[in-house]
Amino acid sequence: MISLEAENINKFVAADKIEKGMPEASNALSSLLGRKGAGSNMLGWLDLPYTPERELDAVSNTGKRIQDENDCLVVIGIGGSYLGARAAIEALPEETSFPVIFAGNNLSPGYHNRLLSSLDGKRFALCVISKSGTTTEPAIAFRLLRKKLIEQFGKKEASKRIIAITDIESGALRKMVDSEGILSFVIPRDVGGRFSILSPVGLLPCAVAGIPVKEMISGASYAMKQYTRGKEEIIMLRYALLRHILHSRGTAIEVLSTFHPELDLFCGWWKQLAGESEGKDGKGLFPASTVMTTDLHSLGQFLQDGSRDILETFLIAERPRRNLTVPEDKENLDNLNYLAGRPLGEINRKAYEGTKAAHISGGIPVISLQIPSITPASIGELFVFFELSVAVTGRLLGVNPFNQPGVEEYKTRMFRLLGKPGV
Ligand code: PA5
Repeated sequence: MISLEAENINKFVAADKIEKGMPEASNALSSLLGRKGAGSNMLGWLDLPYTPERELDAVSNTGKRIQDENDCLVVIGIGGSYLGARAAIEALPEETSFPVIFAGNNLSPGYHNRLLSSLDGKRFALCVISKSGTTTEPAIAFRLLRKKLIEQFGKKEASKRIIAITDIESGALRKMVDSEGILSFVIPRDVGGRFSILSPVGLLPCAVAGIPVKEMISGASYAMKQYTRGKEEIIMLRYALLRHILHSRGTAIEVLSTFHPELDLFCGWWKQLAGESEGKDGKGLFPASTVMTTDLHSLGQFLQDGSRDILETFLIAERPRRNLTVPEDKENLDNLNYLAGRPLGEINRKAYEGTKAAHISGGIPVISLQIPSITPASIGELFVFFELSVAVTGRLLGVNPFNQPGVEEYKTRMFRLLGKPGV
């Protein structure tokens, strides 16, 4: 279960404003659950935590086969077609046992050259993910990596080493999949990229990496019940509402701060989720993130003392999965013996508590979201918690949280510069 603390929030928002806003937040959630309102045709993600067992088995079995036949898997995708899987894999190092490499999320020749050379002589498979099947970055990476696969294994064997995850019938990728008999999984029509982590888009790379996807899904289904109709609903609604109220009174930025480096990419997933869902029509909190204590030695100064239009949300795990203690040193030349015998998890916790108190004294609103520890189930729970809260805040803002019209602007200009036919 996620707990929420917002100790200094009443300095910024009157308690009765929060009370008065709750019915509106609750109505926003009801309209989502009733599949009404802007973007109501893109609410299939609400069902993903209840994916039938046989579909999860199909994903897990394919994952197992990929592990057995290869040294590594290259996942090709951008935005919602890779961030969730990458976030889960990085968050759960204890579970991951098989190398999964991500490509297709940039156009850097250096990156692709290094990736191609690193695959020399390796048995590898490709998982190409694109809902539209036409996105330039993954399409280029797929062309490069498929060529490499064919050079290494021949065309017939190469086709067996490719798995595609795309729309059921539209897009260039679907055409290729059908004409070459490539194994494929479907991204449901009513699920947008950034809400697709609990579909094969996220589950297949996770299964290959070794993450028990059923545990992740059970955390997600628990969350979907608790944060929509259960007794924890109020936690999610309160978080969504506080973000909205703070934004409406001038807060411009939300920084998701974690003291767990393994959650760095989880914060990256959240930035895309919040940024693409809320940042439109001149509205929305700009989502940023920090990893502490690393960033206390860079962005910490700004959070303490810079412009005061920031909300800081801490994302904290109460207990580490594995701890270790600071060793005793007889000479104590570093004067660190006052910490000898103390678990690093406890020192990290004190750093969090000290930072929170400091930032509160620096005059920014602070919210803490805490999970007991980072496990497949709690990661599944967090995915759903943030999806729901972003969707509710989006509805309160009056935007459609499920489209991303702004993403097209750069594409049109880039295509014109590249001379794409028909643009
Ligand atoms: O959330 C989204 O919809 C986007 O970030 C997409 O995931 C991203 O643009 C990639 O699109 P596609 O999966 O069609 O290649």
